[in-house]
Amino acid sequence: MSAGDAETERLKRLAAEAAVAEIEGKMVVGLGTGSTAAFALEALARRVAGGLQISGIPTSEATAAQARRLGIPLTDFAQHRRIDLTIDGADEIERRTLHLIKGRGGALLREKIVASASRRVVIVADHSKLVDRLGERAAVPVEIVPFGWQLAVERLEVLGATVRLRRAQDQPFRTDGGNYIADCAFPSILDAPELERRVGAVLGVIESGLFIDLATGVVLGTPEGPKWLRR
Ligand code: A5P
Repeated sequence: MSAGDAETERLKRLAAEAAVAEIEGKMVVGLGTGSTAAFALEALARRVAGGLQISGIPTSEATAAQARRLGIPLTDFAQHRRIDLTIDGADEIERRTLHLIKGRGGALLREKIVASASRRVVIVADHSKLVDRLGERAAVPVEIVPFGWQLAVERLEVLGATVRLRRAQDQPFRTDGGNYIADCAFPSILDAPELERRVGAVLGVIESGLFIDLATGVVLGTPEGPKWLRR
């Protein structure tokens, strides 16, 4: 690992640990997906081993497996309709609004369901994820139904996106729900809430990775330490 990569990992861990300090006993906790959320799971597992009593709702099969390995108790929406605090990563965070792009790990649908049921959603990231305007660097992942995916792609192109069907080992990438992901690069996203509505209205689209008004706080790992942004 290069020195730069090691520093990014350190900043992710810093942000994750600051967010996990917010968790209190008896909480139902939303467990995010991705490399930064994985650091949060490790920090949470240490607190659970020290006696903290919580239960977690995972946002992906990968996170569920990591939580089980680490001894974090899990629950589900059959037991709990509301989540006290969710900690998750993001691909881009818009400075002024805290709107997000999420889903590079392919878990955007479960992540959005979990976020929508959460009283607080704290996003953890290294400071490179902060942008002035969404879409500066990241494409918007859009989960689509496999049947007729070519039509959904055409209709997303009509909205102005350059679309690539995500692939893994020469096959279309499959989400935990068995769907495909279309990565949609928009030249500039001037109105993210409107774009979320327009993408969501395309037939065959299940959900987009635009997270509007869902994050209540962000902890950025910076060289000067963890930095909180709140809405
Ligand atoms: C998973 O689907 C994503 O939304 C991740 O939370 C996001 O891609 C951030 O991942 P990293 O923390 O690995 O950058």
